[in-house]
Amino acid sequence: MSFDLVLFGGTGDLTWRKLMPALFQAFRHGKLPEHGRILAVARDERTHDQYRDFIRERFANVESAKRPTDEEFSQFARMLFYRRMDLAQPEHYAGLRRWIEQPSGEDGRASGPADTAVMFLATSPHLFPQICAQLGAVGLNGPRVRVVLEKPLGHDLASAQEINRVVRASFSEDQALRIDHYLGKPAVQNLMALRFGNALFEPIWRRESIANIQITIAESIGVGTRGDFYDRTGALRDMVQNHALQLLTMIAMEPPSTSDADAIRDEKLKVLKSLRPFTAESVARDVVRGQYKAGTVDGTPAPGYLDEAKVPAGSRTETFVALRTEVQNWRWAGVPFYLRTGKRLAARDAQIVVNFREVPHPIFPGANQPNKLVIKLQPEDGLELHLMAAKGAGSNESLTPVKLDLDFDKAFDTERVGAYEKLLLDAIAGRLNLFVRSDEQEQAWRWVEPILKGWADDPNGPRAYAAGSWGPPASSAMVARDGHVWDEEQ
Ligand code: BG6
Repeated sequence: MSFDLVLFGGTGDLTWRKLMPALFQAFRHGKLPEHGRILAVARDERTHDQYRDFIRERFANVESAKRPTDEEFSQFARMLFYRRMDLAQPEHYAGLRRWIEQPSGEDGRASGPADTAVMFLATSPHLFPQICAQLGAVGLNGPRVRVVLEKPLGHDLASAQEINRVVRASFSEDQALRIDHYLGKPAVQNLMALRFGNALFEPIWRRESIANIQITIAESIGVGTRGDFYDRTGALRDMVQNHALQLLTMIAMEPPSTSDADAIRDEKLKVLKSLRPFTAESVARDVVRGQYKAGTVDGTPAPGYLDEAKVPAGSRTETFVALRTEVQNWRWAGVPFYLRTGKRLAARDAQIVVNFREVPHPIFPGANQPNKLVIKLQPEDGLELHLMAAKGAGSNESLTPVKLDLDFDKAFDTERVGAYEKLLLDAIAGRLNLFVRSDEQEQAWRWVEPILKGWADDPNGPRAYAAGSWGPPASSAMVARDGHVWDEEQ
């Protein structure tokens, strides 16, 4: 199979930090289809070789195991091309079309267009409408073409709908691939395997057996060099509207009838539509926002958010969100789902904890800890099933907590495929399962909007938390109201 992958924003952060390393890994693993060309487009003038040198230098920042040798890079670089484009100029899109449809030998393909052309928009989202409209205007929207859109997709429901409207004018739903890189993480795909590839859990995956579910995406890093972007965005838009809600849909969805993309996405959409809508009262009660102050992370002093580069003085942007919601259907009625994410927290740790109910009638002395299943997403990728066991030390013995611990990195002797590598290969192959459909994305915005409104009307800004902690104490208090605790406190 032959392909052309066009990276709009070809000199930007996302391209050299994530996409090129992922493409190189795919190449190294022999997964990238052989007859492929990767074309970076950006504003400035460069030759193909200058661009290859630029990428070669950037690979120095990649962790050593994932860095190409000179020999590997020169093979990979044969697929790399560069083209200057002013995204406002229609004739530049016409030139791009010629490059794709009438390649000359110098462009790495002797003749004829590739089987598929993927336009990856790794640009600022305000350019998406313009790029999509121009691609459509020059006919670069035929059935062989797909467009990949990176988040953030909109700032609120109206802006997301506007982007979708413009994208839809040129591309069908199946041609528009919205990336949520969490869906590409191996651990998230394993969640589907756990639930729908095993008969064991499904009968107990419901309100009768489950007391609460906790989804945590904690980061120990701060906003780094992205202060200006982050300050306009905040944790709710950056992490909750997309990554955390996607995880929630994977946990809560009904079994799809097939593994087809739309069968899965229909079920995810139903979950989003079943989430309890927020009101002004429930925002005040069930959502906690925080902002980090100076503290210590991993033994190193860390500045407060307001001291980070490019963050405006007095900013009220949240760097932490914890919230409580419910999925209003027969399977989940009354089961709290707690979501939590933040920057500069105590650890980099993403996990989903399914806390089961207590045994209905305890017969052993001492405390009987309820079972829990911990789905570890990162940094480890694994599963822990916490059980109670008898040591056999005597009669009338109290039970001891033990755990079954599965580390997928050890269980599989092959290197696990990274999120962007997986998603780029899926985009090239046209596999849509792990991309977000426009109705899912809009529904997620619809659900978070009352939170944005509640905060806008709230004279109190975010609550302070020390860098290196687990967020404001109000987050633990919210969970404690239901008689639960966040998993790291157990
Ligand atoms: C991105 C957010 O979508 O996800 C970042 O914009 C965040 O702020 C990142 O740091 C987290 O991704 P990962 O894969 O490192 O957990």
